[in-house]
Amino acid sequence: MPTVLLTGAAGYIGSHTWLALQSAGFEVVGLDDFSNSSARVLDRLKELGGRTPVFERASVTDAAALDGVFSRHRIDAVVHFAAFKAVGESTAQPLSYYANNVGGLVSTCEAMRRHGVKTMVFSSSATVYGEPKYLPYDEVHPLAAMNVYGRTKLFGEQILRDLEASDPAWKVAWLRYFNPVGAHESGRIGEDPRGTPNNLMPYVTQVAVGRREFLQVFGGDYDTPDGTGVRDYLHVMDLAEGHVAALRHLLEQRASATVNLGTGSGTSVLQLVAAFERASGRPIPYRIVERRPGDLPAFWADATLARELLGWQARRDLAAMCADSWRWQSRNPTGYD
Ligand code: UFG
Repeated sequence: MPTVLLTGAAGYIGSHTWLALQSAGFEVVGLDDFSNSSARVLDRLKELGGRTPVFERASVTDAAALDGVFSRHRIDAVVHFAAFKAVGESTAQPLSYYANNVGGLVSTCEAMRRHGVKTMVFSSSATVYGEPKYLPYDEVHPLAAMNVYGRTKLFGEQILRDLEASDPAWKVAWLRYFNPVGAHESGRIGEDPRGTPNNLMPYVTQVAVGRREFLQVFGGDYDTPDGTGVRDYLHVMDLAEGHVAALRHLLEQRASATVNLGTGSGTSVLQLVAAFERASGRPIPYRIVERRPGDLPAFWADATLARELLGWQARRDLAAMCADSWRWQSRNPTGYD
């Protein structure tokens, strides 16, 4: 079976994808510098996968370290997760975002080229669509970034398009994620943000477990059914399986692809809170506050292409997303530490 290098392997999406790839029979080499993740993930992966994970501690910005990794392992393809992802922080620290997200992508691709590896799955984001011209977003929707983080993803996509155009041996999957939530069904791995969570689900689970007093709902006067923001939440294990489908497509069809990974339906903040209360049996106190600057009112995916091209579609519903997020948070109230 092919060997896949995962950059950012100890992160939220990386760790879940690691398990999904192993279940599908792939060999996995994980790489992470733990700049935004915990080394304890590796113990959990060992327990869940039944074997010691093959792991390299290195930064994707370190060319010499990457050369070492590609020399020690016979890599067939790379899934490139390693990136920073907080919108607010990206505005305050643009250089660190460009260095890690854009610089790290370039050095990873350079190392791949030096070692003859030309197959990559790239973590992109629905944020590259910018202000909706229409909804749902399909893959031909115009692209526009709304902040520094979004620009790093847009530039990353473009770099890979230029690379692919320069050498047809490169095969790339541009995966545009919607809003990943949930956790592995075991409750042993999950999302463990450092500091105050920026995203809705980890904030909700921290309220449920008593780490935060109440949820702030950012805006109650949007033009949506209940006035709160609407997003396309998808289960992180479905997202992980989407990577397996994309890799198979690249390796078997030898064709690049740009694909949305979402469920195709939208859920409001208050609908998510209600579903979480049902799944957890815990009340989630909330207050409706000002809109968060830069937030879009609503967006969700047209998920048709993923089904037609990759044979992938999300299988887990909102109740499962909430139940699995809660299982992870309730059994690990302070995350990995
Ligand atoms: N929200 C709250 N309270 C919170 C956090 C979020 O009400 O404490 C609301 C937001 O206003 C939004 C919804 O919950 O309506 C989802 O917010 P998230 O921060 O979880 O997700 P976003 O859609 O804003 O952001 C996500 C990714 C970004 C990415 C963006 C677009 O986290 O990295 O999608 O793809 F840029």
